[in-house]
Amino acid sequence: MKRCVLVTGGAGYIGSHTAVELIEAGYDVVLVDNLSNSDEQAVEGVRRITGAEIPFEKVDCCDREAFEQVFRKYRFDAVIHFAASKAVGESVEKPLLYYRNNLTSFVNVLELISKYGCSNIVFSSSATVYGEADVQPVTELAPRKPATSPYGNTKQMCEDILRDTVAAAGGAIHGIALRYFNPIGAHPSAEIGELPRGVPQNLVPFVTQTAAGIRECLSVFGDDYDTPDGSCIRDYIDVVDLARAHVVAIGRMIEGRNKENFEIFNVGTGRGVSVLELVRAFERVNNLKLNYRIAPRREGDVVKNWADTTLANNELGWRAERSLDETLAAAWKWQQEVMKR
Ligand code: UD1
Repeated sequence: MKRCVLVTGGAGYIGSHTAVELIEAGYDVVLVDNLSNSDEQAVEGVRRITGAEIPFEKVDCCDREAFEQVFRKYRFDAVIHFAASKAVGESVEKPLLYYRNNLTSFVNVLELISKYGCSNIVFSSSATVYGEADVQPVTELAPRKPATSPYGNTKQMCEDILRDTVAAAGGAIHGIALRYFNPIGAHPSAEIGELPRGVPQNLVPFVTQTAAGIRECLSVFGDDYDTPDGSCIRDYIDVVDLARAHVVAIGRMIEGRNKENFEIFNVGTGRGVSVLELVRAFERVNNLKLNYRIAPRREGDVVKNWADTTLANNELGWRAERSLDETLAAAWKWQQEVMKR
């Protein structure tokens, strides 16, 4: 019998890519999304890539009544919880919106999986929980640093909520928190990808929109950091590789291969790439010139953050496979597809 996975935030960037990988791995999926920061076209994209009939429920996970209907209608073997607000700057301006959305929806998910006997949950956490880590690359044992935004705080709080809930469930609930580094790129089919609303805050969407002429010039935030070329270093993980990590995490719990009831894994490539390196790679791979200038540092940026992926490699048996070049080519292909639509 096919296993069924509920994907909240399933019309979003990472959710839609994960839905594709789940289906291709033989799972049934049900997608839930309130479409507050996503588009139902992404669901269509998942259907086109996979050729599967995919149930989609337009539901807000904060709406307990409506959300519970979804649990009455289907039976889930696992849940992957992506649904959340994710703009760092906005979270500073509207902290209560972030605490309400991100915490309420997660508490609802945990209450409902308990009530309906679904025992496996993957939570999308973030490498933002490490802040400016003392040692690079960062292992899962690195201490979490005080969050610098309400958004980051909700990631830490949800990790704690999950840990406590799993501990209290005495083995009835298994949870895995995946700490994503910097997800970029798009599905190679260019059927789905990132759809930022307004001016992109993240690097790669800004790069592709600049290359497309939507933005005049990319600002590289700082070239006087203590790094080889002076720009910040991150670990850019292909969204399809990231999606596959979720499939592996789900399988680990469903097949009872998890070693603890609550586990945490870094999901990155293990390779640090500077902003200027990324810009140059983008130009080279896609054979174009990007208009960019060096700008002042952005407040709140960490200097460097890349993953030690030993645990994910050895325990999950997962590793990032796509090269930065492939990923940047897919990002540009997706941007061109968005322009056509
Ligand atoms: C940001 C968030 C982080 C969140 C992550 C999710 C901040 C401070 N951090 O991380 O909490 O989990 O997104 O995707 O917002 N850059 C430029 N020019 C740009 C945009 C970015 O030079 O126009 C640089 C940044 O300074 C940084 C790098 O590119 O060095 C990556 O930036 P970004 O994509 O925003 O990711 P993070 O800052 O790592």
